[in-house]
Amino acid sequence: MTSRITYVNGRYVPSREAVVSVEDRGNQFADAVYEACQIKDGAIIDLRRHLDRLDRSLAELRIAAPMSRAAMTHVLREVARRNRVENGYVYWQISRGAAPRDHAFPTGVRPTFTATAKSLDVAAAALRYEKGVPVITLPDNRWERVDIKTVGLLPNALAKQAAREAGAFEAVFVDAEGFVTEGSSANVWLVDGEGRLVTRPADRGILRGITRSVLLEVAETEGVAVVERRFTVAEMKTAREVFLTSAGATLCPVVSVDGETVANGAPGSVAARLRRRFHDLAERTPI
Ligand code: PDD
Repeated sequence: MTSRITYVNGRYVPSREAVVSVEDRGNQFADAVYEACQIKDGAIIDLRRHLDRLDRSLAELRIAAPMSRAAMTHVLREVARRNRVENGYVYWQISRGAAPRDHAFPTGVRPTFTATAKSLDVAAAALRYEKGVPVITLPDNRWERVDIKTVGLLPNALAKQAAREAGAFEAVFVDAEGFVTEGSSANVWLVDGEGRLVTRPADRGILRGITRSVLLEVAETEGVAVVERRFTVAEMKTAREVFLTSAGATLCPVVSVDGETVANGAPGSVAARLRRRFHDLAERTPI
């Protein structure tokens, strides 16, 4: 389901008329950052936290914010509204701008700001949640600054394609020491033999997922113990439960890893409980 209306640099236009320069630095250098928020039942989920992370990504790359948070919030609601999205997501991207090609930063350019919103297949997502999904593992071959949410996603795209060709839903990256980092577009969690949630600390090697942050709060209110530590593929294969989190999917149970059944091949009760409670703690911005 495509976005019919796209916001680009101050205008809402039919998507096929939305254009940015060939010399946009997002296009030539992946010199751009992005965010994606879930839209659920007519509200943008956790927008404040996503805007906080965007501010951090922009600051890390020294790209100027194109507008105030209030103005950006208005644009995102408007894009969601004009595309009549009740359930789906809103995606927005800010590049350093367009300038004659030169690797170093240009001076005096305005950032390029685009936003789209799409409906998602709610039934397909519900089925994935009910049945769980297969994942494969792959060496993590990304750059070190994966904590910045940039559009430099080629390794992620290649990994997702490899997963699709293997009949899996997601590819899980593994670092040089054999520890799981994260999925190509999701954070990874397990439930250990003592019923504790385990997830990699978000200091290095992963994106600090907003869904991850909210889920840590959900776990606390539910009295589920959390251990933030690295874990291996072997641990994932013998875990009680394994699941993924992302704004698009909220929480998605994993039932096989590299073709081996995990967690008895069925979504687990801890994942179900956390998922049920998730939207009680998530913030809603009605569109
Ligand atoms: N992806 N890790 C990576 C590499 C991601 O791309 C994402 C999100 C996450 C989860 O972050 P969050 O909970 O804030 O969505 C972790 C988005 C959905 C995307 O690229 O479309």
